[in-house]
Amino acid sequence: MTHAAITGWGKCLPPATLTNADLATIIDTNDDWIVQRTGIRERRITHVPAVQLTHVAAQRALACAGIEAGQLDLIVYGSCSADEAVPNTASGLQVLLGAKRAAAYDINTACTSFLYGLSTATALIKTGVVRTALVVGVEYISQYMDWSNRNVAVLFGDGAAAVVLQASDREEGLIGEALGCIADARQTLRVRGMGAVYGNRDVMLGDTQWDFDGQEIFKRAVHGMSEASNTVLAKCGKTIADIDLLVPHQANLRIIEAVGKRIGASMDRTFLTVHKYGNMSAATVPVALVEAIEAGRVQPGNLLLMPAFGAGLTLCSHLVRWGERVTPIATSDAELPPFEGTALDLVGALRAKKEPAGRSAAGSLPSPLASSLMVPVLPR
Ligand code: UT7
Repeated sequence: MTHAAITGWGKCLPPATLTNADLATIIDTNDDWIVQRTGIRERRITHVPAVQLTHVAAQRALACAGIEAGQLDLIVYGSCSADEAVPNTASGLQVLLGAKRAAAYDINTACTSFLYGLSTATALIKTGVVRTALVVGVEYISQYMDWSNRNVAVLFGDGAAAVVLQASDREEGLIGEALGCIADARQTLRVRGMGAVYGNRDVMLGDTQWDFDGQEIFKRAVHGMSEASNTVLAKCGKTIADIDLLVPHQANLRIIEAVGKRIGASMDRTFLTVHKYGNMSAATVPVALVEAIEAGRVQPGNLLLMPAFGAGLTLCSHLVRWGERVTPIATSDAELPPFEGTALDLVGALRAKKEPAGRSAAGSLPSPLASSLMVPVLPR
């Protein structure tokens, strides 16, 4: 039987860091509240379009796997904030990488998009449709944030990560998953302004309103992630005692702790990034996975459990058997273009789009941020 081994991994975090103290200068909040209720201390804000973050993460993942972009049969671009809908953003990444042979599609299940992408790419490898795939999780949430709403503005950040999957005879990679969607709660998280239904309604990019029932999402997330974890463990004939490391979606430290308590996983077996990146939606789990490997928390043959939830409300839990290699075959020197400003500069420019004077044209936005924030630098 063919399996889909994870042979490469890479991340790309934008350098601009928005602290809780920074946020307190623009909305009515404070470090104590954010840390106590969420565990988040800071998050990153990107100065480049999401596909550029992804390009760097992907080059690092390819070098780590020791393969060229031309060897990819498939690119799966997991995101709910893709730079473009038509053409899809996966095709833009294909051009940037020069991965000419690769089929390319976007997948959007919000925060679970990377893991759903891992499921589909693994299935295509197991069934022999493709042999080598790149799966990315990336998010440019800051662009769609309602920066006047403290209920949501403190929770999210930007970032990207990617993994390379290769066909293998050994039983490794994704060995089982549980997927689900609590659609009767889909109204608990809706970003008004994202999507075609808002087109031609005088709603400009980033002019969003978030419907967000935090407490309801919290309850559903804890229940959904725990149930999905128990389901996949039972399905694969494993128990929580078999799990070496939990790499969960990181929306709120209290959610992670509650899930751990329900499924019987102690926090010392849980890898955390929420304090430094917040919720990067689809990028959260792959960034945490890359950092867990870099920190030596993933060892050859380890069993990893990755529960997640997102808008929809989609939920899942993925069981991954790690292979023999925990170090990169090679490294890439790919880097983002430098950024001299601050995260508050970037947020300031995004907020400026909401001012009446900024509504009519991108040209009225502060320069030079305007060009990078408003015009995705995608290949033509
Ligand atoms: O990937 C999916 C993304 N969604 C989520 O992960 C959301 C899951 N939910 C949560 O993480 C939590 O529900 C939140 C962090 C969003 C909120 O925590 P909470 O403990 O449920 O707080 P709350 O909504 O009950 O609000 C408590 C108080 C309220 O004031 P009053 O009504 O008690 O006077 C809020 O207005 O905290 C106030 N508040 C804030 N205060 C300072 C809400 N946001 C803030 C803020 N700073 N940023």
